[in-house]
Amino acid sequence: MNSSTSAVTAPVRVHALAGGEIALVRQVFDSLSDRSRWRRFHTGVPRLPASYLSQLANVVPGERVVLLAMAGARPLGHGEWTRDRGQRHTAEIALTVVDDLHGQGIGLMLADALASAASHAGVHRFACHTLPSNDPVRRWLARCDAVADPGDDTRFTFAVADLRAAIRAHTGSLGYGETACA
Ligand SMILES: CC(C)(COP(=O)(O)OP(=O)(O)OC[C@H]1O[C@@H](n2cnc3c(N)ncnc32)[C@H](O)[C@@H]1OP(=O)(O)O)[C@@H](O)C(=O)NCCC(=O)NCCS
Repeated sequence: MNSSTSAVTAPVRVHALAGGEIALVRQVFDSLSDRSRWRRFHTGVPRLPASYLSQLANVVPGERVVLLAMAGARPLGHGEWTRDRGQRHTAEIALTVVDDLHGQGIGLMLADALASAASHAGVHRFACHTLPSNDPVRRWLARCDAVADPGDDTRFTFAVADLRAAIRAHTGSLGYGETACA
């Protein structure tokens, strides 16, 4: 943990949203730094409009899954996937963790839970958009053997199974489950 991080004392658990929990989602996105907001949305808006927050809390069974990492009543991270309308075995994935808790395994916990939900729903590939400067996410894309879209250098696809394997390989070396958050 570096000087800009903090620790949570309650166990971190991942919860699936039922849909419409906008206030919880807002807490995650209101806690982001400008850099994280830029990395997540590729825009500099200081606060997300209510309409966009309600989209981030929107759940469509079988089509769109939204997870929150929570420590007690405090939301720490948001993860989602949305099934592609044309390619039914592919879903777009996105993740966000509050800045002061980066590097403690919360993002990987959310990614693992999103991958598990995807496997159960028959989603075999994830797609994501990430900026060339987003080093943490680019490292994970390399670990998953992600393939760049030839027409869009911010879009990548990778197998859900490769993500799960990469998380297993990586967290095994970290002693996952014994993080500062647990
Ligand atoms: C991308 C993002 C979600 C990652 O979340 P995170 O909680 O920091 O991720 P993790 O802590 O699970 O993993 C980050 C690193 O910390 C390491 N880590 C995790 N738990 C650890 C522990 N207990 N001890 C030491 N290191 C640990 C991981 O191995 C990983 O290492 P790496 O940098 O070599 O890949 C977060 O940085 C974020 O919200 N960024 C802004 C939005 C964004 O870019 N979203 C992605 C585009 S959609």
